Amino acid sequence: MGAAGEPKSRESVTLTDNRTGKTYELPIENGAIRAADLRNVKTSEEDFGLMSFDPAFMNTASCKSKVTFIDGDKGILNYRGYPIEQLAERSTHLEVAFLLFNGELPRKAELDAFTHEIINHTFVHENLKKFEEGFRHDANPMAMFISSVAALSTFYQDSHEIQDPQVRRQHMIRILAKVPTLAAWAHRHSLGLPYIYPDNELSFTGNFLSMIFKMSEAKYKPPVAIERAFDVLFILHADHEQNCSTNAMRAVGSSHVDPYSATAAASAALYGPLHGGANAEVLYMLREIGTKTKIPEFVKKVKTKEAKLMGFGHRVYKNYDPRARIIKKLADDVFNAVGRNPLLDIALELERIALQDDYFVSRKLYPNVDFYSGLIYQALKFPVDFFPVLFAIGRTAGWLAQWEEMLMDSEQKIARPRQLYMGSPRRDYVPMSAR
Ligand code: ACO
Repeated sequence: MGAAGEPKSRESVTLTDNRTGKTYELPIENGAIRAADLRNVKTSEEDFGLMSFDPAFMNTASCKSKVTFIDGDKGILNYRGYPIEQLAERSTHLEVAFLLFNGELPRKAELDAFTHEIINHTFVHENLKKFEEGFRHDANPMAMFISSVAALSTFYQDSHEIQDPQVRRQHMIRILAKVPTLAAWAHRHSLGLPYIYPDNELSFTGNFLSMIFKMSEAKYKPPVAIERAFDVLFILHADHEQNCSTNAMRAVGSSHVDPYSATAAASAALYGPLHGGANAEVLYMLREIGTKTKIPEFVKKVKTKEAKLMGFGHRVYKNYDPRARIIKKLADDVFNAVGRNPLLDIALELERIALQDDYFVSRKLYPNVDFYSGLIYQALKFPVDFFPVLFAIGRTAGWLAQWEEMLMDSEQKIARPRQLYMGSPRRDYVPMSAR
């Protein structure tokens, strides 16, 4: 007992099993109990023990991580402790990738060496070009991207040697460096345009824009505002702790498959409309609304659950997504350079109306990163199908950092959740004639 007769505070929780009357003390560590401790809660020796049931991981921490911190209620996002606002304003995507990989911002010589390594791995094997050419003219660029990232593994026979730190790092560099090349080629393929080889005199982002936009000019010079805007977009998308695709990267990587295959799996998770496909859905929605006068009618449909306000809501943020705030500002810079996207007015008005409406306010639904990013991509004439690919280029840095952290974590094993079996009890096979 404490001095005032109060029970002493302990970092634990006491659980009483009303089936048996037994009590258990479960330690609390970092604000969590270990689900495995529940297994001691049994009704008999044969009992399997208690499990926690958590569909969609609504309240389950699957790992300890030092990469990214999010406070969804306050709208805070930090990479390795650094606020996203400061990184977006002052850093570059490659510097952020170094930070995510290594935990610290690089010194100048370290960043120069890292940049040099990345820039020297941007080319892909010529056979990959043939692989790319095999896709139909109307193949979805994200599906092409997923497949070509997976195909990269076939070119590196040592890529499964993930326990060797040097080999592992070499492939992390390769993936980060080659992803823009594969992304750009998927885009060029969709347009029926020749693939452009990397230009290693340009920055990471400038080179990507060159592979996207270069036509007959001898050398492509990326417009400064667009190059910076894309670099910031890559930074904003670089990591977001245990989101659906990062969880896929970790889960698939936990089988100790090579990182190309794990990155392809993470990309596949990102393809879905509830994740990386959401910014495309935002554009479809804005096009469907068509004019500002039709917004109230659309909002009504959202409230009766006939439609969803795409680009709003987030599993973690119950406040304005800090990335959405930065992107909204970035959109102005891009529109100043290339002209205003007419859908912006509908988006701004939709946001204004939604943020005053009790349906959205009470559910804490705010714009997420996807609400404005699609408008920027569209202003630059990217087809909607390509938006998730742009997301994937940025997120690759985070996937790889999280993948390596998972491999280095002695507590991690192959990811294998439990289930609650609700199916039929044992029964005998019924011959066809008796069914
Ligand atoms: N429009 C309308 N209502 C919504 C929306 C939305 N975008 N999002 C959530 N709601 C409602 C739900 O219908 C639910 O209402 P109810 O309590 O009356 O049933 C309530 O808000 C809670 O929503 P959940 O579905 O429980 O939230 P969850 O955390 O499962 O979903 C998600 C998060 C998938 C992002 C969801 O908000 C959504 O579908 N948003 C639109 C898609 C989108 O923008 N995705 C991008 C996410 S960011 C990213 O991946 C980079």
